[in-house]
Amino acid sequence: MSSRPATAPVSAGGSALLPRHVAIIMDGNGRWAKKRHLPRIAGHRQGVEAVRRVTRAARAMGIEALTLYAFSSENWRRPEDEVSDLMGLLRLFIRTDIDEMVRENVRLRVIGDYRRFSPDLVALVEDAIARTAANDGPILVIALNYGAQAEIAAAARRLAEKARDGTIDPAMIDEAAIEAELDTSDLPPLDLLIRTSGEIRLSNFLLWQAAYAELLFVDTLWPDFDAATFADAVAAFSSRQRRFGGL
Ligand code: FPP
Repeated sequence: MSSRPATAPVSAGGSALLPRHVAIIMDGNGRWAKKRHLPRIAGHRQGVEAVRRVTRAARAMGIEALTLYAFSSENWRRPEDEVSDLMGLLRLFIRTDIDEMVRENVRLRVIGDYRRFSPDLVALVEDAIARTAANDGPILVIALNYGAQAEIAAAARRLAEKARDGTIDPAMIDEAAIEAELDTSDLPPLDLLIRTSGEIRLSNFLLWQAAYAELLFVDTLWPDFDAATFADAVAAFSSRQRRFGGL
């Protein structure tokens, strides 16, 4: 069997163990706004500020990959106005922050079926990915119209097509073959998955990749998340003993 144990955390220039790949379910924007009697968009706007703080903090700490759940395949069920506000914020974020990503050697990646977004947003996303493609520093992955079950179904479909066409033997389909078809195939294995706002569920995010990840649920609402809370989360990861099924 081709199982590779999930990541062994790398040493960060000393004794602290750093996760290579951190993913975050950024939850609680709406509640943050409600507590202040503000419209939900105000919470999402502050959420973008938290994205900036945390991507910078992750970069400064030497985290190789940071994956952020910005829009799930279920988020289309929100009122049209809110979906449109989120698209607007994404547009603004890419336009405003792309120069910093290029300058800071960040590689921007997207997972999920983002091609269902409006053509101008698709073009903006693809242009931003292309502008950072030659960078070789930290990877910022934004999950857009992402759903893990759809991702796994698409991987199964592609493998079935290859089997039908005779390019693979069904008996050879193992975990590595499935992983190679996932949107995350060229990213470091997921080490730490954080969800903010006190909710304790994965909401169809990185279900395959989370098999051996450490899960951390924190009460902080996403707009309040900052470099210090991120550092606390990484410290919590570092203090856990990972056994990957062994003893
Ligand atoms: C969850 O809060 C948050 C989202 C559905 C969207 C996350 C989006 C952002 C932080 C802004 C855009 C992102 C980028 C990368 C530019 P919620 O609305 O479900 O909060 P609630 O559960 O308190 O209502």
